[in-house]
Amino acid sequence: MKIAQFSRIGFIMAAAGSAVGLGNIWKFPYMTGEYGGGAFVLVYLITITFIGFSVMIAEMLIGSLGRKDTVGSFEELAPPNKKGWKYAGFMGFNGLIIMTFYSVVIGWIFYYLFEIFSGLPTSTDMAKETFDNLVANEAGIQLFWHTVATIIVTYIVYRGIKGGIEKINLILMPALMLILFGMLIYAFNLDGFSKAFSFMFAPDWSKLNSEAIVRAVGHSFFTLSLGMGAIMTYAASLPKHTSITQTAFIVTFMDTLIALVAGLVIYTFLFTEGAPPSQGPGLVFISLPVVLSNFGTVGTVLALLFFLALSFAGLTSAVSLVEPVVQYIIDRFNQSRFKAVLIAGSAYYLIGVGALLSYTKDYGNIFSIGGKPLFDLLEYTTDSILLPLGGLLIAIFVGYILQKERVYSVLKNEMGKRYFDIWLFSIRYIAPLALLFMMLNLMGILKI
Ligand code: PHE
Ligand code: NA
Repeated sequence: MKIAQFSRIGFIMAAAGSAVGLGNIWKFPYMTGEYGGGAFVLVYLITITFIGFSVMIAEMLIGSLGRKDTVGSFEELAPPNKKGWKYAGFMGFNGLIIMTFYSVVIGWIFYYLFEIFSGLPTSTDMAKETFDNLVANEAGIQLFWHTVATIIVTYIVYRGIKGGIEKINLILMPALMLILFGMLIYAFNLDGFSKAFSFMFAPDWSKLNSEAIVRAVGHSFFTLSLGMGAIMTYAASLPKHTSITQTAFIVTFMDTLIALVAGLVIYTFLFTEGAPPSQGPGLVFISLPVVLSNFGTVGTVLALLFFLALSFAGLTSAVSLVEPVVQYIIDRFNQSRFKAVLIAGSAYYLIGVGALLSYTKDYGNIFSIGGKPLFDLLEYTTDSILLPLGGLLIAIFVGYILQKERVYSVLKNEMGKRYFDIWLFSIRYIAPLALLFMMLNLMGILKI
């Protein structure tokens, strides 16, 4: 099966669209708050620079040379006696696991987009009630929006790489950037800006514990869409004569920039109104609407734009979470795209219903394991275990297994020998060690 090709700008936007997601605008800001600001941001930036960027190059390389679904690409590139590596390609299924809760959150965002029109909550109690009520009591409403999100996402994927994924990214990504940078300019003139800036960039080392470090490393993989085959699958449609190194740089840079801008904007609004930073996942759903209600009509417009940007970010990432498995089903089982989307879509949709119910009062017990809601388990497992594992496999495969001459010549040309050597060092030693360390730490085998 011949895979369609992106245009150059289409590929950049699609890869950036995958990377820039709820991770940037929803998760990164609240994690920064939870783990104390600057120190967490610094660990995150270091991981992105020295590990994330290198692994992104490696993941793009596998896809662009393999030109198949994730399983097929690993199989294609593994030497004859190591074809078992094809099983690493099953990391593509991580995308569906992420989609189970990702789709639910996109549903919340859709709900908020409509709720804004009936006015912003004017007190934290009110905002909490709206959010808690939605999550704990309104299974029906959540189900409705989870369904809407699923229909939109699967329809785009069904339209394919060119007609669906490339098209919406070319529209939504510029729109998203316009909104966020517009908001940054607005925030720049508010009182809270300098406080937000120092909160995010002046490290308070006392706040840095091993949990914060592990979460920062995990999040740097999640935010760059690494370790689950999304970037790999897109790269299988990489247009010829496109520099992997350059594209990976642009995508990494955009993702990081947008996370920082989102954080700055949100914390500026919060600090301008004297609200505290540590709010957890409710940050954009509870605190943000309340502080914006103090801005009058402007606040309503800002809230609307913000949730619009958030929904764009979510949708462009969601399609990249579904596409790997769809590509896999098409390639391996010779199914039509329609059937493949139907299978992949139903799988995540149904588990997503479980995730959504796991937060509700009525069904929470049924959908929890060991007292932990399914939603949290799915998120934790992907973020902290499966993505780092995927990253580790990619680093080992590209660093040690791949046939060298064939592969390295591509990158040596692009980077020049000096940078190539640095990249190779990162892929062979820094990335695997850091990821291994992190996973052992998580399993409680190694404590920092
Ligand atoms: N990178 C996306 C985000 O930041 C999430 C994602 C992870 C998308 C893995 C695709 C693959 O929200
Ligand atoms: Na991201």
